[in-house]
Amino acid sequence: MSSPPRQQRYALILAAGKSTRFKSQKSKVLHHLSGKPLIQHILDKLEDLDIQKTFVVIDPQDREVQNTLEGHNSHLVVQEERLGTGHAVMVAADQFRQLKGNILVLYGDTPLIRRETLESLFETCEKKSADQVLLTAELDDPHGYGRIIRGPEGEVIDIIEERDINVEQKSIREINAGFNCFKISSLLEALSFLSRENAAEEYYLTDVLRMLQQRGKIVQDISTTLVEEILGINNRIDLSRAESWLRSQTVRKWLLEGVTIIDPSSVYIDDTVTLSPDTTIFPGVFLEGKTQVGTNCVIHRFCHLKDTVLEEGVHVDQCSVIRNSSVGKNTQIGPFAHLRDSVFVGSDCRIGNFVEIKNCEIGNGSKAAHLSYLGDAEIGNQVNVGAGTITCNYDGVKKHKTTLEDGAFIGSNTQLVAPVTVKKGAYVAAGSSITEDVPAYALGIARGKQVNKKDWTKNNQKKS
Ligand code: UD1
Ligand code: CA
Repeated sequence: MSSPPRQQRYALILAAGKSTRFKSQKSKVLHHLSGKPLIQHILDKLEDLDIQKTFVVIDPQDREVQNTLEGHNSHLVVQEERLGTGHAVMVAADQFRQLKGNILVLYGDTPLIRRETLESLFETCEKKSADQVLLTAELDDPHGYGRIIRGPEGEVIDIIEERDINVEQKSIREINAGFNCFKISSLLEALSFLSRENAAEEYYLTDVLRMLQQRGKIVQDISTTLVEEILGINNRIDLSRAESWLRSQTVRKWLLEGVTIIDPSSVYIDDTVTLSPDTTIFPGVFLEGKTQVGTNCVIHRFCHLKDTVLEEGVHVDQCSVIRNSSVGKNTQIGPFAHLRDSVFVGSDCRIGNFVEIKNCEIGNGSKAAHLSYLGDAEIGNQVNVGAGTITCNYDGVKKHKTTLEDGAFIGSNTQLVAPVTVKKGAYVAAGSSITEDVPAYALGIARGKQVNKKDWTKNNQKKS
């Protein structure tokens, strides 16, 4: 016997709204959680669920939300007036009126949901040919959530919003998690019966369930015991709770993957970061954005890495900051180094304390061990940059390039006035202000000649 054809799957995310409880100028779905906007977390969870189309309801003012969603395979629907979650679905209904199958409706402010839970909402809907499947949970503190009302057979017969509950219902700990899968035709039918007769004077999506039950439709519920996954982010307290939960999950995942994290509670690793086994992370480290860390790296305390790639065996010594850069094998960075914006350091290099580098390419085996500023430079292999070397890259109008070819040796306290090149194997004497190119294998000296005045101190003291 052939199995019935797979039903089409769609998703609808409700993300319009004023973020009143968030007290923010920007939409709450754009606030960051573990390195990415709340709405992005949801879009990521919907991947791999075989969803044909995802619709997102947004506020007309929310240019930023529109920009964030551009490039994603989602269809935006503008909700001109914010009249409730039911209204948001009504506004989007024209987009899916002609479609057949099931639609998962979820809220833009519940980003911690697991992919497996969404899959079981779809699966239950498909297997039971249900008109609605909702997700519930039991909370110790159900305040703020819609409460589940069950009938004599244990079936869910209604959802009562916090603002509409009576004293008795207040003690109900089973809540509506805000994730529903509907048969599209049944949802459309029920929407037409919604009204605003409630405390908030809004169209509640939660009333759809009562409408369907009254019409004898099939309503199923599944529950989750992992209460964190349904946390709604309504204010900044919720946001910080979500952050610490997600953080503990991420740290746990990397510990199990073979990363040593000495003090998990003090380390911040974005959801978007990847680490490798046998790497050690000391307390107070922040790893953000698209950072990737290879095997056998050590990241010492209080380092901050963002959008940075470390190949294997890199040591980043304490209090170093690296952004938008990459570091080759076995290189040592820091302590107190600052690499920012497009720095590509090769393998076996040493970038030491109080060295700031910007927009530089550095070959293999090169060193800048102390107190330097290197900006807009191309530095070859086996170059030695002495302590206190400064690239003078900016003339007040434009940035200029410094080139240090393979094997160049730059003496301490040198200023390299760009544009300038120190060619292959050339030396620059300490304390030089280099304004012209130094030829290959030459010694460039550009400093005042020393004059020693005989018995100067004795004569001067006599005078005074
Ligand atoms: C909602 C549920 C509640 C559930 C809780 C779970 C309703 C009426 N209540 O309450 O039963 O326990 O979620 O987290 O659905 N939105 C729009 N347009 C609107 C109104 C809201 O797009 O006109 C969006 C918001 O951006 C938000 C989501 O819908 O992302 C939910 O709205 P919110 O006001 O947070 O609902 P809750 O009060 O949390
Ligand atoms: Ca909410």
